[in-house]
Formats: sequence, C-alpha cells, structure tokens
Amino acid sequence: MASFRWIDEVSSVRYSEAMTKRVYIETWGCQMNVHQSERIAGLLAQAGYAPTTTIDTADVVIFNTCAVRQKAEEKVYGRIGEVMQVKKRHPVLFGFGGCIAQVRGAELMRRFPAIDFLFGTSNLADLPGIIARVASDEERITHLPPAAGTEELPVRRMSTVTAMVTITEGCSNFCSYCIVPYSRGPLRSRPPQHVLAEVRDAVAAGYPEILLLGQNVDSYGRDRPEYGDFADLLEQVARIGPRRIRFTSSHPRDMTSRVLETVARYDNICNHVHLAVQSGSNRILHAMNRGYTAADFRAIVDRARTLVPEINVTTDIIVGYPGETDADFQDTLRLIERARFGTIFVAKYSPRPGTRSARLPDDVPAAVKEARLRAVLELARTIALNLNRGFIGRTVAVLVEGRNRSGSYYGRTDDHRTVTMPDAEIAIGKIVSVRISAASSAGLTGTVDVPAEVRR
Ligand code: SAM
Ligand code: SF4
Ligand code: F3S
Repeated sequence: MASFRWIDEVSSVRYSEAMTKRVYIETWGCQMNVHQSERIAGLLAQAGYAPTTTIDTADVVIFNTCAVRQKAEEKVYGRIGEVMQVKKRHPVLFGFGGCIAQVRGAELMRRFPAIDFLFGTSNLADLPGIIARVASDEERITHLPPAAGTEELPVRRMSTVTAMVTITEGCSNFCSYCIVPYSRGPLRSRPPQHVLAEVRDAVAAGYPEILLLGQNVDSYGRDRPEYGDFADLLEQVARIGPRRIRFTSSHPRDMTSRVLETVARYDNICNHVHLAVQSGSNRILHAMNRGYTAADFRAIVDRARTLVPEINVTTDIIVGYPGETDADFQDTLRLIERARFGTIFVAKYSPRPGTRSARLPDDVPAAVKEARLRAVLELARTIALNLNRGFIGRTVAVLVEGRNRSGSYYGRTDDHRTVTMPDAEIAIGKIVSVRISAASSAGLTGTVDVPAEVRR
C-alpha cells in the first residue's frame, strides 16, 4: 500500500492556495496502479483538490485497488472500516476504483454501503465529473465502462528520481491464473510520439530515471504494427538521453534478442531485466498458458548474459498451482539454481474468479504451498547473498533515491541492487560512486567514494 507524498515542482499540475478541498489516495498493487494514482491525483488537482495524507482530513477518499490475489483483495476490504468510522464523524465521499472495482462491479456497492462511487481502470478522465455529481446529487454512482481506452491525463508524480511512463495498457496474454486481462482489458500500445514526449518532459524536469511500464513491455506495438516494436521504442527513448532507463515487466515468450542488443548498446539502459518465469515445470508452464518451456527460459537467460554480461535477472514465481507435484516443484528449484536470479517475488497460487484456472480444483494443500514458498525464499536468499558478496570491494555507481528510517541514504545500482550508504551527505537524485564494504541477501552497504557525479 502506498500513500502519497506530492512533489509539486515536477508535476504538471501544482498545488495552489485556491485549492480548498482535500483528496486522500490509497494505492495497492503494481507500479502500473501506483502510476495511475499519479494520474488520478493530477486530474483531481486540476479539479481543485489538494492532497492530504490522512482519511480524517479528506473531503474525498480514493482507494485504487489490486485484485491479483485473494489476500490483496481482503486487505483492501479490511481498510474500508476506517473510512466508515471517519464517515460517522464528518462527511467524506468515498470512491473505490482500480482492478477490484473493475472485476467485482456493482456487487461491491451492495456489500459496502460506505462506497459512494465505483470507478474502474480506464476512463479515469470521468472521475472529476463523477465526484461532482455524487457531491451534488448525494446519489451513489457505479461507473465501470469496459477496461479500454487510453487517455493522456495530467500527472502529479510521487518521486523526484523516477518518472514512470506508460507504454502499454492492458494485457491480451490470458495466462490461466491471471486477473489482469479482465481488470485492465486488452493490450493497448501508446503512440510512440506520446511516450517520447513524456520522456522528454520528464528529462527536462530533471528526472534522472525513466521507468517504462507495461504488463508485458515486449508486446509493445503488437496491436499497432505501425508503432514499431519495443526494441525500436527503447532505442528512441535511450537517444533522448535520460541518465537511466528501466522497463518492466518483460515476458519470456516475447522478449527478443533485439531488446537485449539494445540494452547492450546503450549505456543509459540499465542492466536489469524482470523476467517472470512462474514455474520451472514444463507441464505447469503449459497449463499456465505461458508459451515457453524451462529450456526456452534458460536459453533466454543465457542469451541475456552473453549479450549483457553484468545483467541482473529478477523474476516472479507462483507455488502451488493446481496439480503442482513435488516433481514439478523440484523442477522450479532446479531452474532457480540455474538462472541465479538477483531477486525473486514468490507467491502462493490464489484462484481468481473468472480466470481459466479458477475452474480447476485448488488442490495443493495450504501447508504444502507454505513449505514451497519458504523453500523458494530460502534458496532465493542464498543465491542473492552469494551474488551480492561478489560486490564487496568493488566501486559501483548508485542513483540516490532517498533516506531510510535510520537516516541513511539508499539508492540503486545500474543493475537494480539496493545500496545503503550510512554516514553519507549526498543529494537525492544524484549518481554517486560507492565502494561496497558489506553485503546481505537484501542488498549492499558502502561508502561514498567520490561524491562527484560519475557517468551514470
Ligand atoms: N505481466 C507480468 C508477467 O507476466 O511477467 C506479471 C504481472 S502480475 C500482475 C504480477 C505477478 O503476480 C505475476 O508474475 C505472478 O507471479 C503473480 N500472480 C498473478 N496472478 C496470480 C495468482 N492468481 N496467484 C498467485 N500469484 C499470481
Ligand atoms: Fe497476467 Fe500473464 Fe498478462 Fe502477466 S502476461 S499480466 S501474468 S496475463
Ligand atoms: Fe494488481 Fe491490477 Fe496491478 S490486479 S498487480 S493492480 S494490474
């Protein structure tokens, strides 16, 4: 869950004294959702809403929600109670939007009387109008057009370091377990000139890092061949000259050698690829409709490491997919050992109503799922620790992202490792040279060597 700290200097819509109303936004889920909240905030700023960080001080409360797993859904429902309490004290308009709203629809209005309006994952542009109508009519509104349609909306960015730039919305892959094609609609690629204009604006506003976003960035242009493909787009973004460019997520079936060659060719494209494998068992990969085998995946990782020797490959794994046997799971562990992922996000399979696999029995017992989750986490930690130890004594370029609770600065290497820099006095958004002195499975610790900027 992310709450908002607004950055006026770099937003297309600024806070002004004329804004008398307050909006509180709570966000769950992926970076796509976080970025959509930046758009919601931009739109509402245009409509005269300044941000606030507590429900109690808000005139409008927005939940931007995630439906990827049942647990994610339950967490959101658990938060509705607080809005109800505040509503007893003073009038607040409560809007419930995002992926849960899109897939659950009007049943939410019946189940949660505290919700005043529902909105989905697209047509966010209608939000100010919906809020105005609910405020004047005192009537509850369900506004859930099909998840389609791309808008170019104003933005209030949360970070001064990373500017998120959407390149595709939706997904047409229909992996058997996944709710996203239903909650976000089919793949829609954004015109390259819009992407490039936004990147130019962000660079001009001083952003050192651009993060290109899509559920499957490698499918860019598949719906609009005239836009070119992801490798073309990535190259054009690199030529604009941001200090660092990242992208997420990549799909093992769709990632091309041309994308990897582009990463190799441009110094400002980071040496990191998030390539979700999900399972190491061919049987399970087939059931998941992933479109590749474990051998295909190994070949892509090998190719990536040949073309970009320093590349950090991170991944997502699902344990306990219907019918996953011990032998299937051992295949997953073997693949993890072989691929040596820098980071693994692992989740227990969660049936999502409406998806294809939800029709299958969820037959892996909870205790087995838990044991497999722990086994993946343990292996992931061991691998990460070994990889990170290899950095001790080396000097790396770190983009400073912020300060942690104990006051230390932290940032990331080009290849997406977290570096903590105690005792440093450095500026957020700068790239510094750091000598690594210690490593854990979670990241690196070091001393700022040359406080001056290094190349990237
Ligand atoms: N588009 C990305 C890809 O295919 O690499 C993934 C996006 S999905 C929102 C993020 C991750 O959530 C997936 O990679 C998968 O590991 C996990 N996930 C999705 N549906 C799930 C489910 N029903 N149960 C458990 N994990 C799930
Ligand atoms: Fe979901 Fe698969 Fe699309 Fe990723 S590629 S968002 S896992 S359907
Ligand atoms: Fe969740 Fe929707 Fe993202 S389901 S992971 S917020 S696309």
